[in-house]
Amino acid sequence: MDQPTASVSPSAARALGVEAWVDAIAALTRPDEVVWCDGSRVEYNRLTRQMVDTGTLLQVNPEFRPSSFLARSDPSDVARVEARTFICCESEDDAGPSNNWRDPAQMRSTLDGLFAGSMRGRTMYVVPFSMGVVGGRYSKLGVQVTDSPYVVASMRTMTRMGTDALRLIRETNDWVAAAHTVGAPLIDGAADVPWPCNATKYISHFPEQREIWSFGSAYGGNALLAKKSFALRIASVMARDEGWLAEHMLIIRVTNPRGRVFHVAAAFPSACGKTNLAMLAPSIPGWKVETIGDDIAWLIPGADGRLRAINPEAGFFGVAPGTGAATNSVAVDTLWGNTIFTNVALRDDGDVWWEGLTEKVPTGLRDWRGEEWTPESGTTAAHPNSRFTVPAAQCPSIADAWDDPEGVVIDAIVFGGRRATNVPLVVEARSWEHGVYVGATVSSERTAAAEGTLGELRRDPFAMMPFCGYNMADHWSHWLEVGTGSRSAGRAPRIFQVNWFRKGDDGSFLWPGFAENSRVLAWILDRVDGSAAARDTPLGWAPVEGGPDSGGLNTDGLDVDESALFALDPVAWSAELDDTERFFSLFGDRLPAQLQAQLADIRQRFAAL
Ligand code: PEP
Ligand code: NA
Ligand code: MN
Repeated sequence: MDQPTASVSPSAARALGVEAWVDAIAALTRPDEVVWCDGSRVEYNRLTRQMVDTGTLLQVNPEFRPSSFLARSDPSDVARVEARTFICCESEDDAGPSNNWRDPAQMRSTLDGLFAGSMRGRTMYVVPFSMGVVGGRYSKLGVQVTDSPYVVASMRTMTRMGTDALRLIRETNDWVAAAHTVGAPLIDGAADVPWPCNATKYISHFPEQREIWSFGSAYGGNALLAKKSFALRIASVMARDEGWLAEHMLIIRVTNPRGRVFHVAAAFPSACGKTNLAMLAPSIPGWKVETIGDDIAWLIPGADGRLRAINPEAGFFGVAPGTGAATNSVAVDTLWGNTIFTNVALRDDGDVWWEGLTEKVPTGLRDWRGEEWTPESGTTAAHPNSRFTVPAAQCPSIADAWDDPEGVVIDAIVFGGRRATNVPLVVEARSWEHGVYVGATVSSERTAAAEGTLGELRRDPFAMMPFCGYNMADHWSHWLEVGTGSRSAGRAPRIFQVNWFRKGDDGSFLWPGFAENSRVLAWILDRVDGSAAARDTPLGWAPVEGGPDSGGLNTDGLDVDESALFALDPVAWSAELDDTERFFSLFGDRLPAQLQAQLADIRQRFAAL
């Protein structure tokens, strides 16, 4: 049957430039008005004031936090919707078994139907932005259209948004296209609600066309399309095609007591403390940690064969609960103003609060839904996934080089999961191939494991399970290529595995974590520096026993059971390796042979114990 040809499709219009694309989206979605955003402070103030007037935002008491706001979302729109997140490439195999694949033509026709008239009665904002500094060698451009002013204000904090980016977008016409609607048209002057959204949600990615279409949600990862959708899902495909890596990693700059500077990139699944590690205040003297990024790293092999990294973002979109003086005082100090809080609690003095901000629970709280709340309410005051959106430049530990367009040279890559059992505090991979195996086997226990047994593992390879825009096994092959290619030979960063979350027989954590993780960083960087001793274990190089005097891990003043932290139980490991083999088999013949070889090697090393 013939397709209707009344107007040119937005995807086709893109080739003609950003104006043509915006016109085509407007023709499809039929907003009352189209506003091109300039990214200025004046515009931000106008938008936030307007949202206070309409009830989308509450102004936080400016005596406590100037220019800060609280958004209460629709209670159904509080997190990323992974089951409604789709990768729409031509071949299902290219999406791989860990993504929700949809036929691109079918998805386009579904989205055409949903987007038709979806912005009626609203303003469509055009948000031009750059990931990485505008014009930077490794930066990428994008344009998001959205009918959510909350999204516009958040994008201004999270990206380099506005006129400078737009100029380059027009000049190059090389940009990622991101169309977003909350899917709640206001028909015949219908009244609005504070947080419009739709029960139907589609977070759709067309990696081959570098396009994103998001319908029905205004929540962070579903709606701030520069972040997970562009900087990870689409960018991982660009990176595969262009020979670099887009990863779910924090970046830090660490200075040792002798003044040597290192840069570390670290991948952990969501809710394993990436933001805390990114803002670490070391507990051991002489070490300094500075922040470069807390969530996303673009890693690019430089002309010298070394891997360089940029943080493509301009802000932090962090989880609020658990962020307090004891766990992450740097984050608390970052939030002094210019912050949009989403779904935290409100105090009667007009400041915000969440579980863990202070030990003492204030009285007179309203919870994230706006209801009066006390500890007896039987719920949490802040939603467990409540968030802060804040400029990175406000972070007291931000490194001078955090926005260097040339990036920083990465010395060490760290992978970690939340593992109650089996995985030791820290080991160094024997080789790049072994390190890629370590990344591919990142996992967390779904349930607390019974003593001596393996809990069901939630696999999250490279902490990219929800964020890799193509076949995960191809991602592993790509990593192998980037680290062992001719340009990088011998110059690739060293790779480490860490686990802050191992538990003892009594169910309590074996390692204090937080600031004490600086001791593990110190061992890692002493290894890179050539001064830390290590012993060979089936899982890689582990610290020697006997503490820092023998070049091992510094546990001075800590009451920790090092032998339990590093214990390897061959029976438990045999079960874990079986589980890894089952997991690898999901990827069929796309699994790189090198990873199968690493698995066999580790089995053999356990057998030889
Ligand atoms: C998000 O949900 O938008 C987000 C940033 O995800 P996460 O914190 O899980 O990485
Ligand atoms: Na999330
Ligand atoms: Mn993340």
